[in-house]
Amino acid sequence: MVIDLPGITLRPAQDADLNQVVSLERLCFAPTQSDADIQQAWFSQGLNRPGRQQMLALDAASGEAIGTYAQLDLQIFLEGQDLPAKGIAGLAVAPHRRGQRVARFLIEQSLKAFQAAGQQGNGSPVPLVMLYPFRHAFYRRLGWAWVGRVHQYAVAPESIPAYPERHNVVPYQAETHEQALYDTYLRSASRHNGWLRRQVLQWEMRLRPEPGKVIYCYEEAGKLLGYVILQFGQTGDRCTTVSILEWVAVNVDAYRGILGFLSSLRDQVSTIFWNTYPEDPFPHLLEEQRQAHTHAPLFSIVPPFGQIGGGFMWRLVDLAAAFRLRPVHAGPPFILTFQVRDPILGNQTITANFTAGRMHPVSQPVPAVVTTSIEHLTEMFCGMRRPTELLWTREIEFEGDRALLQRLEAAWQCIPPFCWDVF
Ligand SMILES: CC(C)(COP(=O)(O)OP(=O)(O)OC[C@H]1O[C@@H](n2cnc3c(N)ncnc32)[C@H](O)[C@@H]1OP(=O)(O)O)[C@@H](O)C(=O)NCCC(=O)NCCS
Repeated sequence: MVIDLPGITLRPAQDADLNQVVSLERLCFAPTQSDADIQQAWFSQGLNRPGRQQMLALDAASGEAIGTYAQLDLQIFLEGQDLPAKGIAGLAVAPHRRGQRVARFLIEQSLKAFQAAGQQGNGSPVPLVMLYPFRHAFYRRLGWAWVGRVHQYAVAPESIPAYPERHNVVPYQAETHEQALYDTYLRSASRHNGWLRRQVLQWEMRLRPEPGKVIYCYEEAGKLLGYVILQFGQTGDRCTTVSILEWVAVNVDAYRGILGFLSSLRDQVSTIFWNTYPEDPFPHLLEEQRQAHTHAPLFSIVPPFGQIGGGFMWRLVDLAAAFRLRPVHAGPPFILTFQVRDPILGNQTITANFTAGRMHPVSQPVPAVVTTSIEHLTEMFCGMRRPTELLWTREIEFEGDRALLQRLEAAWQCIPPFCWDVF
């Protein structure tokens, strides 16, 4: 059910709103810092940037700013195609207005605006909205699906093979490597689901100098083929750790080079936190399948190996646009109707003709019908969950020839998304 808060208005923030936004951000994210610090650290280039629009909620009667968040313009790769998407970042509600459904109201309003953009032809359609939730349950009620998984292996560098390709790893130097690093990332991003086609804003955040953050590149004959961004840290008095913020390798030599380089840190570093996507072969290459420096078993006699993170969420908005853009595995053509429950944007029916590696929305419904929530449709669409599994758990319903559901499963089969960028 959509809520209505008549006393609150939501609009794009302007330069004149800077002080109010800074004050809200401080109260919500860094209450021990000063407004001046926040302004310098987060808004030194102003509130709005290309690809980033700050939004502001005001109490209509008093004009007081009570909530804010940023809308990001994103391009997200899925099966080799980049989908235009919106990101929602830094949702914040003034402490004295919490628990009054202000946050929920803001998210609902932004979803409706994204939907209207495509419908009225006064903007580009928004197939997808991505965010990192403060709580998954809050956004699940609004139609988002948890699709972003992170695996973090916490291993001793001694467990990582000292591959000889490590000798091709060199420190990053902006003058020589910057453009090649962008190109290498893009080459790899277009082959992975969920990675962003990065804009200036995302690159600024990724390469921003920070204490303990360093970049190493893998080069062959002067050509950059991979890189790793590391964050050094300290646990206790002497133990130095390294956390992987991002690794990119366009071929196996670069991958082995990065691993070999990490292995060579064994005299300085006690634990490597290798953050990655679940399909990464990393755990199989290690000499020891266990977490560094721990003896407590995880389950019976089984040692721990790392941690799993429940990360970002996606939500389909403009279904026709999303269906048109997403490539599917080619197979015999078939047609399915989807009846989609959407608590915020209204229930919808969409019929798609799966043919020649694409989905074409058609106007005439067919008797083979998948009945699903928007959340489960999003899960299936991005390969996070299989239609037959969702039918088995009774999270979706299906009427018609079961063979068609199998075809849907084959058409949408893909590696679920992963993303290095956090916002
Ligand atoms: C998170 C935040 C934006 C929520 O704002 P809010 O206006 O109080 O949220 P709402 O009133 O719309 O809450 C909606 C629902 O979420 C629940 N909820 C809100 N914040 C919650 C929290 N921190 N923990 C658990 N539940 C929470 C509410 O109980 C409510 O549930 P209901 O619909 O069943 O009643 C606000 O607490 C905040 O600004 N926090 C600090 C900044 C932050 O952490 N932002 C998120 C980072 S991305």
